[in-house]
Amino acid sequence: MVSLQTIRANNASLKTLGPELVAVFGTFSLLSPYVCLTVGGTSGIGETAAREFVRHTLAPRVYLIGRSEAQASRIVSELSKLNPDGKVSFIKSDISLLRGVDKACDEIKGKESRVNLLFLSAGILTSKGRDETAEGLDKKFSLHYYSRMRFIYNLLPQLNAAATSSTDANNDGRLSRVVSVLSPGREGRLLLDDLSLKSNYSLANCAAHACTMNSLAVGELAASNPETSFIHAYPGAVKTNADREFGPLVRLAISLLMLSFWPWVVPLPECGERHVYAATSTAFPPKAAGGKEAEKAAVGADGVKGSGAYLVHWDGSTCGNEKILSDCKSKGAAKKVWEHTLEVFEKICGQEGGKY
Ligand SMILES: NC(=O)c1ccc[n+]([C@@H]2O[C@H](COP(=O)([O-])OP(=O)(O)OC[C@H]3O[C@@H](n4cnc5c(N)ncnc54)[C@H](OP(=O)(O)O)[C@@H]3O)[C@@H](O)[C@H]2O)c1
Repeated sequence: MVSLQTIRANNASLKTLGPELVAVFGTFSLLSPYVCLTVGGTSGIGETAAREFVRHTLAPRVYLIGRSEAQASRIVSELSKLNPDGKVSFIKSDISLLRGVDKACDEIKGKESRVNLLFLSAGILTSKGRDETAEGLDKKFSLHYYSRMRFIYNLLPQLNAAATSSTDANNDGRLSRVVSVLSPGREGRLLLDDLSLKSNYSLANCAAHACTMNSLAVGELAASNPETSFIHAYPGAVKTNADREFGPLVRLAISLLMLSFWPWVVPLPECGERHVYAATSTAFPPKAAGGKEAEKAAVGADGVKGSGAYLVHWDGSTCGNEKILSDCKSKGAAKKVWEHTLEVFEKICGQEGGKY
């Protein structure tokens, strides 16, 4: 477990670092202005992480992505007061649709040449069965896996630019990281011939596929983008508005359950602090860092220190269901998952444009 003291020391250092401290700190030069994209930043874990990020960095440029304008304007106004040198903007988009993701990414690409941090936490809690979007994917599965991968895929040039930007005239920061907040450690068996669960949908299969596919995809992405770190993070049990789609009775039951497990519930502000640590700590360097950085690094998703892809537990330690992940490895599942993901992108967002 990484102590809160260590987490807070890391986060406090983000503001005080100056150019002359770059070599001391190691892999990242955490100079302002950062560019941070919080997909799911209008509530819960994305909101609390964005707040801590804005609190601890110098003049960051932060984009919150979601649908709720009312929520967004409250958060933009609060965060702008918290750090008057920062710039917080809202992009409204329904990102359960991959074409909605493309629209949001086009807007960002028009404004930013680099993105230091892509924080992905958009999601829903629902007991509905398969709920197809106009693009033919299940809505929940799309939010928890496909749309997140589409953000990463679209913004890889900007993430790679962030990784190398310290050599440019602005001497900007080299932090280049993606954090996808879901459920590492809860990987389950994959149905390799029905990865999108067209014929085998159930809430349990959806949870297992979304989790395992996130865990495998971060490995694939880190291998082909060695200058960027990719993290699949588990937040623990956190009281947020995630139950908003349920009726009052179910919401009451969830609140009572949370109350009875209170000692194990991660307070929302702490959850934000811990995710800023995951998003910035040198414990999770990109693969290209190598050398001494890798020796000091956390163990990656493939069991190798500093491999650039990390499965991070709520307390900052590393996790992952080793049995399932080694079974996936023996079947070459990571490659199959990534090829399937690109096929989905091509079918929905390619020139023909249509349904999967
Ligand atoms: N809270 C927990 O205990 C817990 C535990 C394990 C895993 N997780 C996972 O962590 C993630 C974040 O959970 P949370 O508790 O922070 O949930 P939350 O408070 O409900 O926040 C979800 C975010 O997703 C956005 N969103 C949902 N549907 C969207 C859509 N179609 N288009 C654009 N944005 C959309 C929401 O924005 P708008 O409403 O503005 O659209 C909101 O900002 C989820 O994937 C969840 O499964 C949470």
